[in-house]
Amino acid sequence: WAMHAPYVQAINRLKAERGAVVLAHNYMTPEIYHGIADVVGDSLQLAIAATRVDAPVIVQCGVHFMAETSKILNPGKTVLMPDMAAGCSLAEAITPEGIAVMRARYPGAPVVSYVNTTAAVKAASDICCTSANAAQIVRALPGDTVIMTPDKYLAQNVARQVPEKRVVWWDGACIVHERFTAQDLRDFRAFQPDTTIIAHPECPPDVVAEADYTGSTSGIIDFVARERPAKALLVTECSMASNIADAHPAVEFVGPCNMCPYMKMITLEKVLWSLHSMTTPVEVAAELVAPARAAVERMIALSA
Ligand code: 13P
Ligand code: SF4
Repeated sequence: WAMHAPYVQAINRLKAERGAVVLAHNYMTPEIYHGIADVVGDSLQLAIAATRVDAPVIVQCGVHFMAETSKILNPGKTVLMPDMAAGCSLAEAITPEGIAVMRARYPGAPVVSYVNTTAAVKAASDICCTSANAAQIVRALPGDTVIMTPDKYLAQNVARQVPEKRVVWWDGACIVHERFTAQDLRDFRAFQPDTTIIAHPECPPDVVAEADYTGSTSGIIDFVARERPAKALLVTECSMASNIADAHPAVEFVGPCNMCPYMKMITLEKVLWSLHSMTTPVEVAAELVAPARAAVERMIALSA
């Protein structure tokens, strides 16, 4: 921590000068999560928080689609991305043309796009979802068939939770969560049988089937706080365990995790530069703001 303290102090000073709030995803490094964030959370919590920001500037400590979502929900604010290259394999998996292809294949079926998408894809969708509310949203939609994009694994996991719907999906995946295998988890259980296995729903369904609990990043935090397992394996991004370990000294966090290379592009150094130089403000094409916002707001209304 000593090496981070000068950055944390400088950033917190600049935040006050600029009138900025830092919205940080649960996958940020501990020095960002604990040192400079005003709000931490999963994608849904950060989207809701963005609608409530009064300050003129938002610094999005997360990936690009999260900054776009904040801008869409609160277009009057300056939303800064400390590194514009912080993308997401899911957001890059689908385009508005891909949505049109799915609509042509499944006429009349509603399109649910994960928030991990560009503003253009949100604008072409009927409603968004996050990992925290995907099953709830799919269950609430009219008709027998629901199109889910772009995460095939989230869609397959939701299909199991909502058997009354025919869920069809686009062929996208998260490069962090697709790397876990069911065999990894079986081997781990054989080696350390007293471990509680907790997975994110972007993992393949056979991985989810091996887990004791599956949920969004905030769902994972709540589960650990509630159940206080003696040993926990978080089948997700590595910073999750680091960020909550101090709050749960009685829980031993064990096992492998995967790093998200995009989330890890956001560093204290880049946040400091971002606030100093007011770069880089995220812009969303004017014609996309209203339809993209409608898709996100429908989701927020349905998940209340
Ligand atoms: P959550 O909404 O669960 O935080 O997930 C976002 C994400 O990018 C996970 O990979
Ligand atoms: Fe995208 Fe996966 Fe990284 Fe989340 S963890 S930002 S879904 S690549």
